[in-house]
Amino acid sequence: MANIVVFGSQWGDEGKGKIVDILAEQASAVVRFQGGNNAGHTLVVEGEQCILHLIPSGVLHPGKLCLIGNGVVLDPVVFCQEVDKLAAKGLDVSPTRMMISKKTHVIMPYHRLIDSARETTKSEAKKIGTTGRGIGPCYEDKMHRCGIRACDFADPELLREKIGKALEEKNVLFKHFYGVGELDPEAVFAEVLPYAERLVPYLGDVSTAIQTAQKDGMVLFEGAQGTHLDIDHGTYPFVTSSNTVTANAASGSGCSPRDLHRIVAIVKAYTTRVGGGPFPTELLDADGDYLQSKGHEFGATTGRKRRCGWLDLVVLKESVRLNGPTELAITKLDVLSGLSELKLCVAYEYRGETILYPPQEQNGMGHVTPVYESMPGWDEDISAARSWGDLPVNAVNYLRRIEKITGVPVGIVSVGPDRVQTF
Ligand code: GDP
Ligand code: IMO
Ligand code: MG
Repeated sequence: MANIVVFGSQWGDEGKGKIVDILAEQASAVVRFQGGNNAGHTLVVEGEQCILHLIPSGVLHPGKLCLIGNGVVLDPVVFCQEVDKLAAKGLDVSPTRMMISKKTHVIMPYHRLIDSARETTKSEAKKIGTTGRGIGPCYEDKMHRCGIRACDFADPELLREKIGKALEEKNVLFKHFYGVGELDPEAVFAEVLPYAERLVPYLGDVSTAIQTAQKDGMVLFEGAQGTHLDIDHGTYPFVTSSNTVTANAASGSGCSPRDLHRIVAIVKAYTTRVGGGPFPTELLDADGDYLQSKGHEFGATTGRKRRCGWLDLVVLKESVRLNGPTELAITKLDVLSGLSELKLCVAYEYRGETILYPPQEQNGMGHVTPVYESMPGWDEDISAARSWGDLPVNAVNYLRRIEKITGVPVGIVSVGPDRVQTF
């Protein structure tokens, strides 16, 4: 059966969690392959909302394997909290169905401290507006080759030694650069140890688990963040610290690119961004307020208001080029009901030229002027639509225009937060 990769095509919060939950019905395993608990994936089933930060969005389907790949950065405290919350709902979160790769790097208290200390020392314009979860500093240690991996949790003496070594350098920064005071390695070890012990039964070989799960059915790879937050291809430096593009589904989980078959781009019917950085189609007017309030656009992780704007097809075309989607899943189409005119950004004016892809210079995106195409909107409430035939003609035309410009067919349409509001 064809494996599926789900990815965010914009700046995150496109509705990946909802679509993964739906597609998980047919999966034998769901895998997270990058990012960490900077993600907030919202699932709504029969009116009940569940927000997941770390555990794959297949968890609501009994019996599906939930795997955390080597490319993730895992906060053990958050993992345990999420496990407890799901267990309280009566879900099976035991190691029989959940596994953390032994190679996954773990977020330590000092990573969270660096993340927040760094943001406070930056001027407003330079602030990335990170989620403060220690994501960047943990990936830094991975690349610096001094990171702590989940497998180290099974070896407390090694864990103690590695914490001590990491803090030798970081304490100099804490004391003399950030002025936040040093951390005591023994206190950090004591703080982490109970979580480490709880995690040990979950450690495993995720790569082999994926290989086995493929024999029983389909493996679903759940992307986090969005393509324009990718460390290489996003609006650098206003990005996250991992590769969010679909190619990383293979390296971030331990499988071959040949195992990625169907690729689903999650596209919000308009654009949002949370945190700092350029956003060409951002609306600072009544239409922006309309999208923000009608779409309940608040960050699922930090609760911050999301910035809102028109759908940017330049951004989307770049995502198509980088990720190779076989289909688009358009979410939140219902939010556009009631707007008399809809705008689609089809190109940028940049340095006297018209361009069809984002400029690559630092902050080039901050200096483009969007070129818009206008389409008539619709008034009807479409949240009860369950087929193309239930949509007003202007909504169908809007989707057809997106297909035409991106060259990718729309395979899934979402018209509300609930699992059933989809066709
Ligand atoms: P993710 O990070 O990509 O999983 O997305 P989030 O969960 O952060 O944000 C998407 C938000 O939109 C959540 O509150 C979802 O419940 C909600 N949502 C998803 N699809 C739809 C939809 O089609 N219509 C509406 N109105 N809300 C949706
Ligand atoms: P999901 O998976 C939206 C943003 C932050 C900040 C930047 C860097 O729910 O779509 P980080 O903490 O990663 O170092 O912050 O990236 N960001 C997200 N924005 N959705 C997300 O995840 C995000 N994860 C990180 O707001 O601008
Ligand atoms: Mg989110």
